[in-house]
Amino acid sequence: MARRRVAILISGRGSNMTALIEAARAKDYPADIVLVISNIAGAGGLAKAQDAGIETATVESKPFGKDREAFERKLHDVLVAHDIELVCLAGFLRLLTPWFVKQWEGRMLNIHPALLPSYRGLHTHERALADGVKIHGATVHFVVPEMDSGPIVMQGAVAVRDDDTVEILAARVLGVEHQIYPDSLQLVASGRTRLENGLCKTDASGSPDDSLISPAVI
Ligand code: GRF
Repeated sequence: MARRRVAILISGRGSNMTALIEAARAKDYPADIVLVISNIAGAGGLAKAQDAGIETATVESKPFGKDREAFERKLHDVLVAHDIELVCLAGFLRLLTPWFVKQWEGRMLNIHPALLPSYRGLHTHERALADGVKIHGATVHFVVPEMDSGPIVMQGAVAVRDDDTVEILAARVLGVEHQIYPDSLQLVASGRTRLENGLCKTDASGSPDDSLISPAVI
């Protein structure tokens, strides 16, 4: 099967972007990262993408002010001009309009630093710590018009420790993000996922021994 042409949209440092680019170096990976677009000029991830030999573009959202759709039309034109088949949002700090989401329905993924549907929105790690949850994590999902919703492709969990700070917990979750985003794109790009009644189904299965219980009583 031909490798799917993927664009990554970023606004910042792009560590998930880097994880996707590295995974796609494998010969048998089913996707090619052909384009990285930032809505912020000079975003840290742009230089990393260029170093990796990936074409980059900047489509600034700021000049469009509140006209979100006008910005998105420009973005969409760039994606279409590059024959993009799948879009990965990776720290892309823009709310998307229903119009844009519709253009990429079933073809756009996002990563969120929490176990959805818990902790939609911002400051997920602070809120998880404040609630005293014992297990936290990250989710890759298809993008739908409602923020941080949409069919879940994959989740990764981490234990939360009593002495965790926001930074320590964020770093632990980020490690999981860097695993589940490339794995999710692999499943989606190879056609191993299907959307049924608003849910994402796959023939992949979890290993039976990967339960996570926290805290462990030793
Ligand atoms: C990640 O925590 C991701 O889950 C969230 O934004 C952050 C982006 O980080 N959507 P990076 O730019 O990929 O390093």
